Amino acid sequence: MCGIVGYIGSNNVKKALLEGLKELEYRGYDSAGLAVMQEGRIDVFKAVGKLNNLVDKTAAFDPKGFAVGIAHTRWATHGKPTEINAHPHRGDHSFVVHNGIIENYKSLKDSLIEKGVRFISQTDTEVIVHLYESFLAQTKEAFRAFELTIGAIEGAYAILLIDETVGKTIFFAKKGSPLQIGEGTSWRYFASSDAPLIGVCESAIYLDDGSWGYMNDRDIKIFVGNATVSPQKKPLPLTRSAAQKEGFRFFMEKEIYEQSRAVGETLTSRALANVVRLDELQEGFLDGVESLRLCACGTSYHAALSSSYLFERLAKIETRCEIASEFRYRDPILRKNELFIVISQSGETADTLEALKMAKRSGSKTLAICNVDNSSISREADAALLTRAGVEKGVASTKAFSTQVTVLWLLALYIAQNSGALNAEDLAREINAMRRVPSVLAIKPERHEHIRRLSKRYLHGHGFFFIGRDLFYPLALEGALKLKEISYLHAEGYPAGEMKHGPIALADPELFTIALISKNLLKDKMQSNVEELIARDSTLLAISSERLALADDLIEIDEQDHPLLEFFEMTTVIQLLALEIAIRLGTDVDMPRNLAKSVTVE
Ligand code: M6R
Repeated sequence: MCGIVGYIGSNNVKKALLEGLKELEYRGYDSAGLAVMQEGRIDVFKAVGKLNNLVDKTAAFDPKGFAVGIAHTRWATHGKPTEINAHPHRGDHSFVVHNGIIENYKSLKDSLIEKGVRFISQTDTEVIVHLYESFLAQTKEAFRAFELTIGAIEGAYAILLIDETVGKTIFFAKKGSPLQIGEGTSWRYFASSDAPLIGVCESAIYLDDGSWGYMNDRDIKIFVGNATVSPQKKPLPLTRSAAQKEGFRFFMEKEIYEQSRAVGETLTSRALANVVRLDELQEGFLDGVESLRLCACGTSYHAALSSSYLFERLAKIETRCEIASEFRYRDPILRKNELFIVISQSGETADTLEALKMAKRSGSKTLAICNVDNSSISREADAALLTRAGVEKGVASTKAFSTQVTVLWLLALYIAQNSGALNAEDLAREINAMRRVPSVLAIKPERHEHIRRLSKRYLHGHGFFFIGRDLFYPLALEGALKLKEISYLHAEGYPAGEMKHGPIALADPELFTIALISKNLLKDKMQSNVEELIARDSTLLAISSERLALADDLIEIDEQDHPLLEFFEMTTVIQLLALEIAIRLGTDVDMPRNLAKSVTVE
């Protein structure tokens, strides 16, 4: 959510900033801006909408030689996505970009206004630059003024600030929002993720929360509190394999097709013939663990909920699931001997990260299931299992979901194997099914074409209900989330058995029910629920391996002998259905309105 880039060096500063922002654009695309400082003068450009608008605006700007620059792509939190609210925000002689939320900005703003400071934006960010300049007026010392500024603000932030009166320096601070430093041969970067650094910097410094300091053409000084910190450098991959659509219409479509390969990667050296190996977990990591608490947001929460059925059924271990934003504020009771597992694609989701910190503070052992190595969540947890999905660009999560469910299934089997909850024969049967997931996830062209053709019947109506039972209920939730976030149509996921307790009142021909019917789990119960809806003339699209006499439409999946194989096959069906409906409705599938890939504000 929002992206930050900073640059100091003699290469093409504009190119460095814009290319960096391009890598981050999927994190926020309401507006973008940059500021370049050369010889004590700062040029600023801002544009509303996608990054291309900023590229057009800066077309004639051609800075040469040594320069300092900061840039930002925004997902609006305070104030509309206008040019005035776009970053960088300015004072009289300094400029700031910021990710996160300054929680006490209102009181700071009021006291600055009382002192005669004029604000022009509605953002919380603008307060940083005025606060800095007001401390500078008192102290006459920029470094001290920045330190006082950081001391005065509350909330979550990653901040870069430049000042014409200082020159050649970027002040920075990080708390609760990601920020790292990249170093190349004769240039240095800041970025809010690895992506802009890869291919242009050899190593990265991952800043810890509470870090602040400055970088100039000679030096990087990092402090936590008053203490100087010696930075730990980690090597970065040498080449940026820029994600390309490779002939697909959208990244989301490409990522749906990539699931087969991604899950294959996830399983490599973990699902062996008769045994599950999770080398990332140290010997004894699970000793004493009596129950599990899974915590996540959005699609990652749906992966968690899906797996809760597996943990209890296969590993016989009590499992609870939590939505991170709810968990944080309800004074939860964390049990001793409970393993706290967070699930996140990005590893930067603010609510999930804070929930993880809470669990750590209360003494729980923690595990992250994450797609991004070195992300805040991977680093914060006691141990991490990487999902190996590869970069996911589409805002609508697809391959992250299937790889998360795979890792969680692996973990359930690993626990069952260690505790003896499954006998050797059942364990081998599970692993055998698991190793067939990549082939089940391979998209058949005729299936995709069928869904594409069918999608034209599902562009109107007064809503969608995705229904399922057991494992297929969380998948129904995921189907509804996929559809609503990229098509802007109203959709709900519901446990099929609950429809008669209220929602069935909505049933009529304009209510589209998408029924996920497993042959292996509760088939008869599910069929009864579906018939209740058909009896009320709801339009019914069945996703099933068997024909259902009265369904209006059927997307036929292969007959599988394991419910999870049906689960993964249906996963691709609901994803493709959402994709094709959205394409027909003409939305921006990869960057749907109001959303961002990584939600780093609460
Ligand atoms: O990066 P995370 O997995 O922590 O993100 C959690 C959610 O923000 C994310 O899954 C979101 O719901 C997606 N847009 C769903 O497609």
